[in-house]
Amino acid sequence: MSVMLKDKNILLGVCGSIASYKSAELIRLLVKAGANVKVVMTKDATSFITPLTLATLSKNPVLTDYYKAETGEWNNHVELGLWADIMIVAPATANTLAKFAHGLCDNLLSATYLSAKCVVYLAPAMDLDMWKHEATQQNISKLIGFGNQIIKPRHGELASGLVGEGRLAEPQEIMEYLNDDLKKKLPLKNKKALVTAGPTHEAIDPVRFIGNHSSGKMGFAIAEELASLGADVTLISGPTGLETSKKSIKRINITSAAEMLNACLDLFHQADICVMSAAIADYTPAEVATQKIKKNTKEFSIELKKTQDVLFQLGKQKKTNQILVGFALETNNEEEFAKQKLQKKNLDFIVLNSMNDEGAGFKKDTNKISIIDKKLIKTTFDLKSKTEVAKDICAKIISIL
Ligand code: CTP
Repeated sequence: MSVMLKDKNILLGVCGSIASYKSAELIRLLVKAGANVKVVMTKDATSFITPLTLATLSKNPVLTDYYKAETGEWNNHVELGLWADIMIVAPATANTLAKFAHGLCDNLLSATYLSAKCVVYLAPAMDLDMWKHEATQQNISKLIGFGNQIIKPRHGELASGLVGEGRLAEPQEIMEYLNDDLKKKLPLKNKKALVTAGPTHEAIDPVRFIGNHSSGKMGFAIAEELASLGADVTLISGPTGLETSKKSIKRINITSAAEMLNACLDLFHQADICVMSAAIADYTPAEVATQKIKKNTKEFSIELKKTQDVLFQLGKQKKTNQILVGFALETNNEEEFAKQKLQKKNLDFIVLNSMNDEGAGFKKDTNKISIIDKKLIKTTFDLKSKTEVAKDICAKIISIL
């Protein structure tokens, strides 16, 4: 599934051309990529391919006119234009391109184009001489001037039997163009991010360990969101049993606090963004028994020694262009403790979870956070899914960048 197009609202305009049949395949690919697709057809397009085909594939009613003849209901082009995150017109005929270039709006498609505020991709299809004509080329230049993107027609055999430039780009090529273009626009493109997640396990003997309840869900959600925003993400994860849904995320599995420290020290210098959401053990057994400890004694105690605070070490190394984010999980004096950690560990901001908030904390799918920034300004967020919380945290990172 394409990360770029997932959950995007896509308005597909289909004009009357022999290439209209390719719109069916394009819709199928867009829907497969996770997009919500609505189709507006010109009247001529309905002579080439049926609205029923496109409605079935897009899973939405296809619109062809300003109003539904049966009910007299109005198809609101302004709402449609605002609904769309992306507008694509494929195939775009010479006639429709001319209308768009001159602001004519005598059908639902051209009126919707004028109302759309989103990025518009136009994939022309026409005979070679129509494409070459100065009128078409001037219209294309105008449309580029408006900020529209042209997915150029391809060279090949045309419906007229002539060979030349004018064939609609193949649906797969249109998809690749969209994906590449959307990637270029991502706010964290070319940024490297390091995220830690999950608990650590501190070995007592070969079969036992000291751990904590961290599920890793928050850190995984942050890694996924940073990747969706275009960052090149490395996720250092303690033992969680979770999988990332994005192949682009590089994952390093560690077990102990000492391994977490080494992995972070190895990678931190090249990170532009580092989010430390792992629940790293503060203490670890002073000695690890090489054999399983037998229950021979009535009482048993383990001597613990302090681990290194990874975040504190990274804070000491942090360069001014690096963003370092920490977490604080508190049960009392939350704000005060979080502010102390923020300053001591040299963070750009700290995400505060309170164990007192219902729905927040370990294992749950929801979280309730506050963010405290360097100026000690605190922003409190509602209880949300961890995916939504990750979005808030990443929005804060982008605002600092
Ligand atoms: N952290 C770390 N290394 C540790 C312990 C914690 O890097 N050995 C990081 C966590 O990833 C988190 C932040 O420090 O981002 C806060 O962890 P927390 O346990 O709440 O705070 P501590 O600094 O360990 O303080 P305390 O346990 O006294 O509350």
